[in-house]
Amino acid sequence: MSHRISVQETGAAFRALPGEPLLEAATRQGVGLPHECTFGGCGTCRIKLLQGRVDYEEMPLALAPEEAEAGYALACQARACSDLVISVERDDAPPAERRQAVVRSVRPWSPDVASLQLEIEGGALQYRPGQYMNVLLESGVHRSFSMASAPAGNRVDFHVRRIPGGRFTDAALQQLAAGERLDVEIPLGRFRYHEEDYRPLVMAATGTGLAPLKSMLEALMDDADCPPVSLYWGGRTEADLYLAHEIRAWGERLYEFDFVPVLSRPHAGWTGRRGYVQDAVAADFPDLSEHAIYLCGSPTMIGAAKHRFLELGASAGHVYVDGFT
Ligand code: FES
Repeated sequence: MSHRISVQETGAAFRALPGEPLLEAATRQGVGLPHECTFGGCGTCRIKLLQGRVDYEEMPLALAPEEAEAGYALACQARACSDLVISVERDDAPPAERRQAVVRSVRPWSPDVASLQLEIEGGALQYRPGQYMNVLLESGVHRSFSMASAPAGNRVDFHVRRIPGGRFTDAALQQLAAGERLDVEIPLGRFRYHEEDYRPLVMAATGTGLAPLKSMLEALMDDADCPPVSLYWGGRTEADLYLAHEIRAWGERLYEFDFVPVLSRPHAGWTGRRGYVQDAVAADFPDLSEHAIYLCGSPTMIGAAKHRFLELGASAGHVYVDGFT
């Protein structure tokens, strides 16, 4: 028997077949629900269950058990066990557009990460710190990169991690030179800074997951209303912390700023924190009930961090995640 799903904010309704994920059912019937990865890894499709029950074939990585208990669900994986009333966070992001971009610079930061600066053509560019763009390749596939600079004009920075054998991040990036043109789709994504959530910030990223957090923090620089910020950045070796020197200087322009680099495979002389980034946060914040938390990294890190932080009192409504593979 199918179930009726109603969206509280819009009044839209659709029916989900037995075993059919809510997102799939909504899309099939022309009801738009936010989503990105569609495999339970990013948390973008999170909804609140106001009435009814759901289950999962397999518990998704981006949903901590504590979140599920608090009534949240991931629409791309959840299946209705009864009629549902759901709440979907309103999204007032600027609409995505297809545009041309000109490469202004490409320079290596480490053997694995390059800095890419693009000038986006086609009129004033608006985006929210935390969002990303797609580079559209001729083959029809796309590659996604978060904006790594605060919105200011049409020049935007990106951090590109080389994936061996990757069509863009390896092959094309090696040849890319200033002046070349790319097709992009911008801005995309629901990950963003929530200025209405005025709490001390705990931010945790691994690798190039730093990029959207950097965009947020740049936008907060010299802002008298900036809450205290604790930024944890994890990598395997010191080479993964490609921007550590620059980050240390951010403290001069942020109201209260603590930067904690964490390495899981440090060299013998490393005197900083060791282990996983979520463990370093947990050791420093035994009570996270009063914080707004931003997480950006692999679904594995996001899943482990969310679970840990909710156990430490973090509130599911104050944890914002951007998961990528
Ligand atoms: Fe559902 Fe990413 S779209 S978790």
